[in-house]
Amino acid sequence: MTGAQWDGYYRGDGVRRAVDLPEAPPWRTFPRQPMSAVFQPPPGLREAVNAALWLRRPLLITGLPGSGKSTVIEQVSAELDFGPVLRWHVTSRSTLTDALYQYDALGRIHAQRLGAGDDGGGADDIAPFLQLGPLGTALLPSPRPRALLVDEIDKSDLDLPSDLLDVLESGEFEIPELVRYERDEVRVRLHQSRDTAAVVRGRIACTQFPFIVLTSNGEQIFPAPFLRRCVRFTMPRPSPEALRALVGAHLRMDVPEGGPVADIVRAFADRLEAGEALAIDQLLNAVFLLSREGAPQGVAREELAALLMQELSRA
Ligand SMILES: Nc1ncnc2c1ncn2[C@@H]1O[C@H](COP(=O)(O)OP(=O)(O)OP(=O)(O)O)[C@@H](O)[C@H]1O
Ligand SMILES: [Mg+2]
Repeated sequence: MTGAQWDGYYRGDGVRRAVDLPEAPPWRTFPRQPMSAVFQPPPGLREAVNAALWLRRPLLITGLPGSGKSTVIEQVSAELDFGPVLRWHVTSRSTLTDALYQYDALGRIHAQRLGAGDDGGGADDIAPFLQLGPLGTALLPSPRPRALLVDEIDKSDLDLPSDLLDVLESGEFEIPELVRYERDEVRVRLHQSRDTAAVVRGRIACTQFPFIVLTSNGEQIFPAPFLRRCVRFTMPRPSPEALRALVGAHLRMDVPEGGPVADIVRAFADRLEAGEALAIDQLLNAVFLLSREGAPQGVAREELAALLMQELSRA
């Protein structure tokens, strides 16, 4: 299909044709490839991450959409062997308890009814109805710290940052359902895993403070007591050189200083400089579609560039 018209797949004529799609961009192949090898840390980020690691404090990363905030932790965790990143995607409905553990009380009652009259061995076992959330899993005692992404904390209910602070200060929490439970030790499932961990008398206390990244687009102003307990970093506006390196890393090639890719990068950098809100994904999309063999030329190229590079705040 090389050299095929870039837009020759869907034609809008309703005629059936089971053609193979073109090769996907390297960052859109599935299963997802880890981003740790291609992430290019902006100036100052390395120091901020190291400060957070030394101080055992969460790192609060602020910045524009698509500036790489959610990707930082993948590289840190891969480099320092913290295991798979635990992800907590915060919304206005998120609660601290959900992030610590989930208890399916109704499911347990149902199972108790079904099991009534059997030998009593397993019917009232609470373990299948409990699961740790991302934060609860990150606070389990472990030989190495875990990495926890608290993504988009600025979308949370106003009380959440302070609630979270309490748990992060003490590094421990209780599961009341287990504190009251008849057996001392219960094995509880971990977040997004089939593994279990032993919880004794309902109390979980970390032995290694997790590496935590909190991300924010700046939609919420956090209280001072919260801010003072975090290391804070704002993603800087990337320079044209940084953008070239980043595109090269994603496309796995060296981007020369002149030529079509460099031109797209420069146009993107100029718009950022002028204060427009554009995401790095948009640059990657534009480079992928506009710099390939058979890419549209002339007016069609301008139109495609405009389609891909629409400013975010005007969405
Ligand atoms: N410094 C960088 N090096 C390499 N790739 C980057 C960099 N910054 C961003 N990207 C790429 O840009 C895309 C968007 O990054 P990411 O999702 O981390 O942004 P974000 O700041 O979390 O955005 P949002 O606020 O919308 O959640 C990802 O595909 C990521 O790989
Ligand atoms: Mg993000």
